[in-house]
Amino acid sequence: MKKTAQAPANIAFIKYWGKADEELRLPLNSSISMNLSEAYTVTTVEFSANLEHDEIRLLGGEFSEQEIERIVKALNFIRNKAHVTYFAHVVTKNTFPKGTGAAASASGFAALSVAAFAALGIELSEKELSIFARLGSGSACRSIPDGFVQWDKGKDSDTSYAYSLYPHDYWDLRDILIIVNNDMKKVSTTEGQKGVKTSPLWHDRVRGVPEKIEKIKASLKEKNFQTFGELVEEDCLDMHHVMQTQTPPLVYWNNKTRAIMDAVVDWRKKGLPVYFTIDAGPNVHLICEAKDEKTVMERVKSVPGILQVMVNKPAVGARLISAHLF
Ligand code: PMV
Repeated sequence: MKKTAQAPANIAFIKYWGKADEELRLPLNSSISMNLSEAYTVTTVEFSANLEHDEIRLLGGEFSEQEIERIVKALNFIRNKAHVTYFAHVVTKNTFPKGTGAAASASGFAALSVAAFAALGIELSEKELSIFARLGSGSACRSIPDGFVQWDKGKDSDTSYAYSLYPHDYWDLRDILIIVNNDMKKVSTTEGQKGVKTSPLWHDRVRGVPEKIEKIKASLKEKNFQTFGELVEEDCLDMHHVMQTQTPPLVYWNNKTRAIMDAVVDWRKKGLPVYFTIDAGPNVHLICEAKDEKTVMERVKSVPGILQVMVNKPAVGARLISAHLF
């Protein structure tokens, strides 16, 4: 059976950095995110007795050997669960560049999990799909449920999964993704996170996360944009300070990243409510309310050196679609 899934990338408002268990991808802390409407992956999967190995293809790009290994590993988890030995034909495409901190691994492993289980005729609950997506890439578990999402770090594999806090149409926010660099990042998040405990700051950050989660959930509940934005920006900076103080230091920002961060602070001083957040790459996500999208976009256009801008709304989670890629 051939099945196709579409899964959104997600942007974390309270982020995770560092794992308590590398193999099971259990995080050191819980996190909160929102699915993105325009940054997504579409993946078609078909298992077949006629294949002699997994055939995996990325349309419009190429997977590295390491990436292929990771996808095969995820397929093996799925084959084990389903008690099948067939190899799979997998074709996938992204609407945005992978490896640039725009979370292609999150949407990628979420789409793969949904398509692969469906292709095997196995119906899983949202919680089970979230757990399987997590085994491929931690943050992928947050791309399974709808809208605004919480990932509980859990104690073991069965308790570490994501669920929806609010549907996609709960709050009309915008995530304006500014791409300043399309190159693959030099250190993957999987590798980078292994060094988290070399930072003198990691413990304090992890200890502070439960309180931040409670605060951001209160601001979501009240739709208090100022408090919400301040918490988002603060946690982004906290996570990057941990990364930057690791040995060896991980600095994902470049000059354009810093220029946009400074510009956002300046725009805000002049009365425009917009905040930034950044994942493991130089690209910047601007968070604002729908009413301010036009003004923020006008300001963004005045910043030199931007390659691409993508305006995302909050989105539903991973789901099956009927348009196959092969
Ligand atoms: O999902 P991973 O293991 O590739 O890690 C991604 C971590 C960050 O994007 C940097 C933060 C987050 O919570 O999304």
